[in-house]
Amino acid sequence: MTELCGTILVTGGMGFIGSNFVRHVLTTHPAARVVNLDKLTYAGNPRNLADLEADPRYVFVRADVCDEKAVTEILEVHGAEAIVHFAAESHVDRSILQADDFIRTNVQGTRALLEAARRTGVRRFLHISTDEVYGSLGRSGVFTEDSPLLPNSPYAASKAGADVMARAYHVTYGLPVIITRTCNNYGPYQFPEKFIPLMIVNALREEPLPIYGDGLYVREWLHVEDHCRALARILSAGQPGEVYNIGSGEERANLDVARQILALTGRSETLLRHVKDRPGHDRRYALDWTKIRHDLDWTPTIPFRDGLGQTVEWYRAHPAWWLEILSGEYRAYYQRQYGEGTK
Ligand code: NAD
Ligand code: DAU
Repeated sequence: MTELCGTILVTGGMGFIGSNFVRHVLTTHPAARVVNLDKLTYAGNPRNLADLEADPRYVFVRADVCDEKAVTEILEVHGAEAIVHFAAESHVDRSILQADDFIRTNVQGTRALLEAARRTGVRRFLHISTDEVYGSLGRSGVFTEDSPLLPNSPYAASKAGADVMARAYHVTYGLPVIITRTCNNYGPYQFPEKFIPLMIVNALREEPLPIYGDGLYVREWLHVEDHCRALARILSAGQPGEVYNIGSGEERANLDVARQILALTGRSETLLRHVKDRPGHDRRYALDWTKIRHDLDWTPTIPFRDGLGQTVEWYRAHPAWWLEILSGEYRAYYQRQYGEGTK
């Protein structure tokens, strides 16, 4: 492992992957400091990092990535040398209901952050993107880093917009940008609007599990800890101007994942409910991640079967974490998204 050092500005560090990454850096890279910049939207949860609040190598600043002036000041005050940019509106279904915030944060916010990075002379800018920018696959094939960008949802389109802006800042200004594109992450602290935590939480509460369409849509699953190790590796040894796919090879149909969760929670398959499909639903994603394996010697270490079991146990052991979320804004969202469809 190459040691990270200096001050890293993490955006969106109160969200799912961001908070896991902050914890990963602070616990495994003793020479690194983290400044966590987060707006605290519905998806940002300070309780994700409550155990690290007193760490002298950690600072939290509430700010909006779209506020270029504020971001520039934060970079200057804290002397950040690197940025890892997670902050985004991240849920496809919400982007289908209302896309404005996705354009604002994901496209305009990324531009503001790139500009602030350029002005302050940041030495590494890791832009966290997604396999969804490549579009959808049929039964076979994989996306390489050279596959065309063919996003299908407003969320994916906004992430593709951010990617090409990040690339343009590298080409035009020489900003040392690296773009990473990963597949579906799972693990602790994931907001329960996403498929795996939604299935787990509903199973634990003996509520119906909403399966879009025929449930045969395929996703590639990567444990968030493996993703964080990959990002630390890329931050220390990746090449500016490059794109790295971060995959796992663990492809699963949604219905199979839901059935596995029902077995792990000891619930009956009668809880499965096929509901109205997501419009424009991408059939299958799969990444070719040969480049990061060969060039940076990274491979995932957590098999899906083990990681899913650990994740179910984490949600079983932390009901207060998700019950608080279920009692807030999420209730209105759930009603709007699923209505009576899961009864
Ligand atoms: P998340 O929704 O859990 O967290 C997003 C975080 O960003 C929250 O803490 C939120 O408060 C913050 N944020 C939102 N708008 C902001 C703004 N304008 N200014 C500052 N902070 C803001 O997201 P996640 O699932 O952890 O995803 C993190 C990143 O990884 C995103 O860029 C997403 O596109 C990408 N990604 C996620 C996955 C996945 O499976 N979750 C897979 C591929 C890529
Ligand atoms: O592939 C990477 C992407 O993975 C990230 O860029 C996104 O930020 C992240 O949200 C995720 O997008 P998906 O749309 O793949 O994830 P989601 O958890 O919403 O859905 C996973 C699959 O499960 C998808 O085929 C839709 C299906 N699904 C989802 C929900 C919420 C259901 O069948 N029922 C549901 O209620």
